Amino acid sequence: MMKKPSILIVDDERSTREGLARALKRQYEVHLAEDGPRALDVLSQNDIDVVLSDLRMPGMDGITLIQRILARTPQPVCILLTAYGSIETAVEAIKRGASDFLTKPVNLDELDLRLQSALRARHMEQENRQLREQLDAKFGMESIVGESPAIQEVFDTVRQVAPSRANVLIQGETGTGKELVAQAIHRLSPRAKGPLITVHCASLPPTLLESELFGHEKGAFTGATERRPGRFELADGGSLFLDEIGEIDSSVQVKILRVLEQRTFERVGGRDTLEVDVRLMAATNKDLKQLVQEGTFREDLFYRLNVVTIMLPSLQERLEDIPLLVQKFLEEFNAENNKQIEGLTPDCLSALMTYDWPGNIRELRNVIERMVVLSRQPRLTVRDLPAHMRQGADEPRAAMVTPDMSLDDAERTMIIKALEMHAGNRTKAAKQLGISRRTLHRKLNEYGLRENAEKSGGGDA
Ligand SMILES: Nc1ncnc2c1ncn2[C@@H]1O[C@H](COP(=O)(O)OP(=O)(O)OP(=O)(O)O)[C@@H](O)[C@H]1O
Ligand SMILES: [Mg+2]
Repeated sequence: MMKKPSILIVDDERSTREGLARALKRQYEVHLAEDGPRALDVLSQNDIDVVLSDLRMPGMDGITLIQRILARTPQPVCILLTAYGSIETAVEAIKRGASDFLTKPVNLDELDLRLQSALRARHMEQENRQLREQLDAKFGMESIVGESPAIQEVFDTVRQVAPSRANVLIQGETGTGKELVAQAIHRLSPRAKGPLITVHCASLPPTLLESELFGHEKGAFTGATERRPGRFELADGGSLFLDEIGEIDSSVQVKILRVLEQRTFERVGGRDTLEVDVRLMAATNKDLKQLVQEGTFREDLFYRLNVVTIMLPSLQERLEDIPLLVQKFLEEFNAENNKQIEGLTPDCLSALMTYDWPGNIRELRNVIERMVVLSRQPRLTVRDLPAHMRQGADEPRAAMVTPDMSLDDAERTMIIKALEMHAGNRTKAAKQLGISRRTLHRKLNEYGLRENAEKSGGGDA
């Protein structure tokens, strides 16, 4: 059987409390409180579905109580009881969030109907909210692919900070997905219906950046032929994403600090002080803390921005995500180019997984795009890789010499290494290995490395 819904009856008159309790205890789990503070106590210790509260009570009145209740989660349904003559107050209570009101003395049949309909409405709302949350969680972060622990940690932080108004600093190397994360936070936040405005700070000189951020009045400077709102104004009610914040000039840093502290600013050349409600996110591929130490970034601004930091892992730190990412990009570029590439050969994949990816995910994405565009086979092979990544992939790799190798393998490996170190120069390689050039020559033939040595270096200089 379903659990009985729980109800909290708040009334300073004992007879009312007990009368209602008697009438309701069959269908409800009943809790009682004689005033507002005690009601809040009960609420903090029990999971209450409905609060039925008197309006006039000494101390905290019913409306104040309802406001307090609605400021917390989970929110029960609130129904107010009022004596004849205070209908206006009851209307006020509904405006403040009460679901319903009943006049005293309470007609019990009426109460039963109202309670049932309130509970039904609440149930539907909860279901909707759950669905919405599931959808949001899915769509908010669907564009960020990854199952590695490193990226899962990022997801967790994103989920945690999104609902708040906290400023977020997103750090990470180029191409690690900083902008994607900022978008996800915005979409998962209560500001999702508001705008997300992005400013790439590095691309503008200080004076332009200032007017870009704060707007300007007509005639503020030569060329300012019209009043123009700035990005802070445009982001009102939403989020502002300042990309490459490490690059901004100290004159602009001061002004951003002020908006963060006071939420106010003036347009360039303007007198009016404007107020905005903006959630700020900032990103940088620099070590901002170090910029603070070097004196190029204001410490106070750093602390303001840095309420929450998200450190994006480099692709090197999450190589295990490469197959998933590749899959995603294949789908994307197959669709875009009307192709049907199915996947990669194991060699090709392993080449991707051993490359060091200085440009991180952006570089991976570009590589896949290029391969999809150029390839004519259903599977991408090592030969489809860009030249700088192919090196070493289709040639014998100069691995480490390890104790579990055969002597032959170890020798072969050492020869390859020596040749690599000397850019294919056999005289120098032989010298390093402590053998004659002729012996090296013979061994190259023996191990089938001749061609390789000739290809990868200038031969004998
Ligand atoms: N986890 C991910 N899953 C799928 N695509 C990703 C992921 N991370 C990044 N990308 C893609 O990689 C590219 C670079 O991402 P983004 O622009 O967010 O990086 P960034 O950190 O802002 O880089 P930069 O510092 O150069 O501005 C984008 O095309 C983005 O869609
Ligand atoms: Mg970026």
